[in-house]
Amino acid sequence: MGQAKINIAIDGYSSCGKGTLAKALASALNYVFIDSGAMYRAVTLYLMRHGVDLDDLPQVEQALTHVKVAFEMDDSGVSFVTLNDENVENEIRSIAVASKVSEVAKIQAVRDKLVYLQQQMGAKKGVVMDGRDIGTVVFPDAELKIFMTASVEVRAQRRFAELVAKGDVVTFEEISENLKHRDNVDSSRENSPLTMTADYRVLDNSDMDRDAQFALAMAWADEAIAANLQF
Ligand code: DC
Repeated sequence: MGQAKINIAIDGYSSCGKGTLAKALASALNYVFIDSGAMYRAVTLYLMRHGVDLDDLPQVEQALTHVKVAFEMDDSGVSFVTLNDENVENEIRSIAVASKVSEVAKIQAVRDKLVYLQQQMGAKKGVVMDGRDIGTVVFPDAELKIFMTASVEVRAQRRFAELVAKGDVVTFEEISENLKHRDNVDSSRENSPLTMTADYRVLDNSDMDRDAQFALAMAWADEAIAANLQF
């Protein structure tokens, strides 16, 4: 029997380490890792740069026709997101983009465009994608769905350390408030809110290190791949 690849959906709150786990799984399984949040961030950057009024839907829709979001790989195999062929990986991680992206992710026209692209990326399976609606909307048939969570304190501390290491001038309070605000908007928005269904495996990593998270998720992945082979 050939290698039957599966799709793995990883959803959860902001700064839970979804990307780190998704990358590790993709690399161990030789799958493609896709950071769907980077796509929402890239669209946000475009709309900010062009001063688009988020309350003016026709203006947003018009702007979207000029947006091309894709992923490319550098020489060492690390993928980065592009906005109209420009590498925007660093810029999309700024606090300026982070503070606007939840508003942009609420807009259904934005979601429609990105979900379509994401579904195309996963059509041949072998994808590990992290986000908020991957197991509910993008790949409702994903063979493995993981919901990641951790306490706000742990998450804010992690994100704060990350930004400080990058040289950003931020305060812990600012980061913590931004996280809470995004959790709130992401979970309460009308269009594809962050939510979990019964077919998710829950991974609360407040007290788990990376190795333990990886071991657990890898065991789930092996199980899902074995179950998939039986068909
Ligand atoms: O994972 P992240 O922090 O980079 O995501 C940025 C924002 O994009 C976050 O506020 C929620 C939104 N998002 C979304 O609505 N759906 C996704 N699949 C991924 C991200």
